[in-house]
Amino acid sequence: MKILVTAGPTREHLDPVRFLSNRSTGKMGFAVAAAAVAAGHEAVLVAGPVSLDTPEGVRRIDVVSARDMLAAVESELSEADVLVMCAAVADWRPKTEAALKLKKGTMAPVLELEPNPDILRTIAPRKGGRIFVGFAAETGDPVPEAARKLAAKGLDMVVANDVSAPDSGFAVDTNRVTFVRPGGRRTYLPLLTKAEVAARLVAAVEEIAARSQPK
Ligand code: PMT
Repeated sequence: MKILVTAGPTREHLDPVRFLSNRSTGKMGFAVAAAAVAAGHEAVLVAGPVSLDTPEGVRRIDVVSARDMLAAVESELSEADVLVMCAAVADWRPKTEAALKLKKGTMAPVLELEPNPDILRTIAPRKGGRIFVGFAAETGDPVPEAARKLAAKGLDMVVANDVSAPDSGFAVDTNRVTFVRPGGRRTYLPLLTKAEVAARLVAAVEEIAARSQPK
């Protein structure tokens, strides 16, 4: 299968040197791309700004903003059998982006924001028989919100990600997740390395593919 994976944060610039972003390092998404290749699949990685080496055998496309990420996903999607949206996409961006660095004295004390496109919702009409996997990063119990996102975004699986513990979620090498599937199916995984979570995720995608129609 050809597996398209997004990873890392997006940056939403206010000017050339200032931006809104989040703590994603890309570790989880890069691990998914590496696991896909290790399992014999083709992997394309759409990466926000991160400082990680590209896993061997993975084709990488670097992007900055949510709108760049959407454009890259849209252009790669027709060839893909699977999309794994692991990126922590910024939901909002500054309403204006200055071409030159803003001077302290000319900056307004209130930052005006506008919503970014939701990538999964935007490409939903093109899903067809493709397998779409989302993530849900939550600081409380992530499973109810993951189940809501599964239905709202029409996904085949959501990886409910507890990001409140210091050994899970953003910027660490381990993760604690639950796979949430339609029909109330849940797979609770213990604390694992991100490489192990990624291998389980790829195996779950293979299982979904074995039971579904080709795209
Ligand atoms: O990169 P690491 O440091 O390893 O950290 C990994 C991680 C914590 C970032 C990762 O495991 C994770 O949980 N990624 C999803 C983070 C997130 O933004 O979740 P969300 O609940 O805000 O978004 C839900 C889903 O919609 C996600 O699949 C997201 O990619 C997608 N989305 C979100 C916003 C948007 N504008 N478009 C989207 O498609």
